[in-house]
Amino acid sequence: MAIDISTNYAGLTLKSPVIASSSSLTGKPQKIEEMAKAGAGAIILKSIFEEQIIMEVDSERVNNMYGNYPDTENYVSFYTKKHNVDEYINLIRSAKNNTDVPIVASINCISVSEWVEFAEKAQDAGADALELNMFILPGNIEQNGEEVENIYKQIIHEVSPLLKIPLTLKIHYYFSGMANMLYQLAEHEKVKGLVLFNRFYNTDIDINKKKLTNASIFSAPTDISMPLRWTGIVADKINVDIAISTGIHDGEAVVKGLLAGAKVTQAATALYKKGVDYIGEMNTFLKEWMEKNEYERIEDFRGLLAQKNINRPELFERSQFMKYFSDYN
Ligand SMILES: Cc1cc2nc3c(=O)[nH]c(=O)nc-3n(C[C@H](O)[C@H](O)[C@H](O)COP(=O)(O)O)c2cc1C
Repeated sequence: MAIDISTNYAGLTLKSPVIASSSSLTGKPQKIEEMAKAGAGAIILKSIFEEQIIMEVDSERVNNMYGNYPDTENYVSFYTKKHNVDEYINLIRSAKNNTDVPIVASINCISVSEWVEFAEKAQDAGADALELNMFILPGNIEQNGEEVENIYKQIIHEVSPLLKIPLTLKIHYYFSGMANMLYQLAEHEKVKGLVLFNRFYNTDIDINKKKLTNASIFSAPTDISMPLRWTGIVADKINVDIAISTGIHDGEAVVKGLLAGAKVTQAATALYKKGVDYIGEMNTFLKEWMEKNEYERIEDFRGLLAQKNINRPELFERSQFMKYFSDYN
């Protein structure tokens, strides 16, 4: 049986559903080439951060360095911004020149701002798609859910008229009306893909030093549960492709994501821990699993366990331990 793991995502044709997620690895030309050789379906470049584009220069520092001249701040701000943007544009160009896989540029956005112009530059440099890494933590007690959601909508509204390449949104799960918000985001005509989900840089506490510290930057394999649930719930109800992200640590996780209805899977932690060549092993696992289960193409089994297709759709919404595990010991 000829097994074909090619697929398409957000209008792009991919050799594999295993995508290299945005990370510092995908900011290095050498690693990008290795990922492509290992069989990545696409590569999401490291994000350029809104701050890098807008560059709010600390005016006191600038004045100490250059003296208190009125134009200094603007100049330094302009220079730093241009340098960051140029560097990123070069990264896109080199990735395009040295690989034969779709290259997706990524912008970290937290507000509606002048970085919108950057999206066009990324497109002109040859990016095949643009992923917006939308990282708005709803931590302001004066901002209600609707106001936060409107920031998302406004960003999409601002960036989309300039884009000819597909737009995808990498989002988190802090929405009160989760399924409805995913539906609303997917309804925008320019949005072609949703990445479920982004992983925050988490906080921990050191009880001896009584200080805030950073939690692990890496995910655990069990972290797949959350994206799996939401992929399963919305995959067959929204009109865009889903890239499942967080906890895709091996080939088995890739299969799970596809069964839940994702079009593709994104991996970062696995590539740090096991090396970028591990993409090849994930592809091999997928092919062998398909062969064993007699599927020739991904579409033969994708979404088999999405909510609409299972006998007990309530399983995806099961959330209370008490009811189901009250006898557990
Ligand atoms: C060191 C590191 C750097 C990352 N940098 C970015 C980034 O620039 N942009 C982005 O959208 N996600 C970034 N991420 C998040 C990953 O793309 C991914 O969403 C997250 O790690 C969850 O996936 P995983 O379980 O496969 O690691 C980064 C993750 C790590 C570990």
